Amino acid sequence: MARLSLALSSLLALLPIVTAQAGPWEQCGGQGWTGPTTCVSGWVCTSQNQWYSQCLQGSATTTTTTTRTTTTTGPTPTGTGLHARAVSKGKKYFGSETETDVLNDAPYVAILRTEFGQITAGNSMKWDATEPQRGSFQFSRGDTIVNFAKSNGQLVRGHTCVWHSQVPRWVTEGNFNNATLQEIIRSHTTAVVVPTILIGLALTTRIICIQDSWDVVNEPFNGDGTLRQSLFYNTIGRSYIDVALRAARAADPSTKLYINDYNIDGLSSKSTGMVNLIKDLKARGVPVDGVGIQAHLIVGAVPSTFRQNLEQFAALGVEVAITELDIRMPLPATTAKLDQQRKDYQAVAAACRAVPACVGITTWDFTDKYSWVPGVFPGQGAALPWDGNLVKKPAYTGIVDAFS
Ligand code: G3I
Repeated sequence: MARLSLALSSLLALLPIVTAQAGPWEQCGGQGWTGPTTCVSGWVCTSQNQWYSQCLQGSATTTTTTTRTTTTTGPTPTGTGLHARAVSKGKKYFGSETETDVLNDAPYVAILRTEFGQITAGNSMKWDATEPQRGSFQFSRGDTIVNFAKSNGQLVRGHTCVWHSQVPRWVTEGNFNNATLQEIIRSHTTAVVVPTILIGLALTTRIICIQDSWDVVNEPFNGDGTLRQSLFYNTIGRSYIDVALRAARAADPSTKLYINDYNIDGLSSKSTGMVNLIKDLKARGVPVDGVGIQAHLIVGAVPSTFRQNLEQFAALGVEVAITELDIRMPLPATTAKLDQQRKDYQAVAAACRAVPACVGITTWDFTDKYSWVPGVFPGQGAALPWDGNLVKKPAYTGIVDAFS
């Protein structure tokens, strides 16, 4: 009964909120849709299929619908962008992080559409964004990202379900006991990792047919490879990871379930911690499909064991993705630093190319214009393949060379 009322409240939370006009890339029609059926100025409500119409720029021509991708093939590449080059060498995608507040930057969007085949939302799918109050789900920002990706035939990586950071206060300050916190993890995970069955009931605005993988558990480790003393670990113990993974598998059996962390780029105690966790999960039959290597790296300091590290994860029978790549430098950027950065990007991309289990690379945004680095590491930056004026840097050439 408790589960039934939870499911009902989740369903109600997913019902569309009626607004006057739908915004860019938002839903504007489809069977069962009761929300706005016209788009804001400059956008046209375009039918994608019987379930779904979406606000797109330009004409109202019906476009081809992207279907759920469960194979190891990514979207059909267009042009000669980074995605096309990665796909030509057997990778599933080359992607970028983005966020809703930059999708009105037309020159930026033009690059995001043509160079990349996969999108990760920087913040819009995190717990504080999706469930700011218990049982009250907000998917509009995440769906804007999904709809943008869908309109470009791009895959989506869900980021992130259970993480010690960007958790709403009702979770951190709730003083929940073990059993209740497990149930909270279950219900949150079930709601965000695609209740696809609801789409068939036409009760939801959510068309998440292209969510290819999810960072179900993010940053669970301390630097020494032991498990981080987070709220989840301290209350539930290591089985909080099992709870999240099992709920994610039940919510969407075809999405690849990842554990994602930073500073696991080369062989290290922390990487060994990840190896041992994956072994343990697999031995106990807990579902897990991939290791996400964030790869927030430093120019001139890409670990020499980067490829070997990918191989050790691959040997466990999971796929590997480089999920948040950027390679920062002390500012100002100089010709010498930018050339070293080119070599570093090439080394990372070449390692992924060389290891079949490495399915793809996602940069944490693609332009220095929107990088998180200067805000968190004062005096450092210039970490991405495009500069702040959206001009390609030598790093871009390094990636191209790795996939040539
Ligand atoms: O939305 C509020 C805004 O209302 C407020 O005025 C402003 C004041 O500072 O803050 C805004 O929230 C910020 C949010 O990004 C959205 O811009 C937060 O302060 C800021 O902390 C948050 O930073 C994000 C960070 O995760 C939080 O840990 C970055 O954008 C995001 O790129 C970054 O991404 C993480 C990955 O999820 C996990 N791996 C590391 C990576 C980089 O830190």
